[in-house]
Amino acid sequence: STIKIRLRSNEELEINTANDLSLMEAMREAGVDEMRALCGGCCSCATCHVYVVQGSPELAVVNDLEDAMLSSILYRKEGSRLACQIPVTQTCEGLVVEIAPEE
Ligand code: FES
Repeated sequence: STIKIRLRSNEELEINTANDLSLMEAMREAGVDEMRALCGGCCSCATCHVYVVQGSPELAVVNDLEDAMLSSILYRKEGSRLACQIPVTQTCEGLVVEIAPEE
């Protein structure tokens, strides 16, 4: 899928990524290093917080564990997701995400 990442500098990066990765892994593979993703994708750190700016509405739906993690952080807003909880699939084609500010 082709996914656009808006960095904290407001620069936009377009990545092409294979399915079977999480968005967090895909971003790391593409060299995006401003997202710490400390827990490595276990949904227990919330440092992979992104905002879904554009894309299929189902991409903005959070799972229960993710919702619990997100409820503890400061910069949650509509479209908040944890990038490690977004599997890259065909649905992600054209997705635009913005990296949330560091907590
Ligand atoms: Fe820790 Fe996503 S990498 S919650």
